[in-house]
Amino acid sequence: MTAKRDFIDTPTYTQEEIQFMIDLGLRIKESIKNGYYPPLLKNKSLGMIFEQTSTRTRNSAEAAMTELGGHALYLAPGQIQLGGHESIEDTAHVLGRLLDIIGARVNRHQEVEDVAKFSKVPVVNFMSDQSHPTQALADVTTMEEHLPAGKALQDCKVVFVGDATQVCVSTMFIAAQMGMTFAQFGPKGYQVHDDLLNQAKEIAAENGGSVSVSDDEAILEGADFIYTDVWYGLYDDELPKEKRMEIFYPKYQVNPELMAKTNNPNVKFLHCLPATRGEEVTDSVIDADYSICWDQAENRKTAMRAIFVYLLNPSLNYATKEVAAKYQAEFDLMLRNAPDSRKDN
Ligand code: CP
Repeated sequence: MTAKRDFIDTPTYTQEEIQFMIDLGLRIKESIKNGYYPPLLKNKSLGMIFEQTSTRTRNSAEAAMTELGGHALYLAPGQIQLGGHESIEDTAHVLGRLLDIIGARVNRHQEVEDVAKFSKVPVVNFMSDQSHPTQALADVTTMEEHLPAGKALQDCKVVFVGDATQVCVSTMFIAAQMGMTFAQFGPKGYQVHDDLLNQAKEIAAENGGSVSVSDDEAILEGADFIYTDVWYGLYDDELPKEKRMEIFYPKYQVNPELMAKTNNPNVKFLHCLPATRGEEVTDSVIDADYSICWDQAENRKTAMRAIFVYLLNPSLNYATKEVAAKYQAEFDLMLRNAPDSRKDN
């Protein structure tokens, strides 16, 4: 029997697997765009534990399940016993008996690790204070869709501007795994911690990429993608506006002048959203033609579909090129034979 896989952090996945999930997500997206909703998650139920609010993660996960024939349950604080009369351990045990897959957005990373430990079904990290892997998969999927002419992901440079949030860390790891050039342009005290940086450097070196951090704007040179996130920090460590402006503004605001410092006329802009317009990014950048943050938001669903299908089909696990080829053939067959669940037949 194959051991269950969780999607807690991307470094537990190989580059081939991540590439497989990117391709799988894009194939399903294309299929749905053409009117075919492959029932790849038929009769499957996803439990979504949210200890924090969410727009993109919740809606993308729920819609992904519905479109592929499954169902999602929103489990907010106060709606289940977790945090009140029942421990994480017991909640995870029970949900693992009732559902096929669990997603959890948690206050502390250990909580999602515990859900995974005590549940017999796959668990997906819907964001913790440490990482945001479903966002990271959506981001590389979006970069793949917007590759500069003649370049592969491995040839691209992504510069994350501002605070070393969990999104920054997850971008760093997935970029390193894909063999990209990753840089964070951020002030001292708000840069990726050395332990994580060193881990990412090792991963990048194994894959032909590189990882660096600097407060020198020269690091922007040659970026294919500029990525930013909010400056207000996390949960109980949230910075008041006055303080964050003092730290990050104006040097780290993504505005047309900062974009120009890449010296790349074809540079694209990414933001995981929600954005605080006027702080980390100006309207003139987020609403520009080169902004791909709306495609990125849409691809949260592309990534969710791929992750759920991957985790709920253990035969795909540890995907290799051979598995990808076989699955491609099976997928083609499924698409030909599948009734479109949204058409009256
Ligand atoms: N980017 C992101 O995770 O958005 P939500 O907080 O709205 O889910």
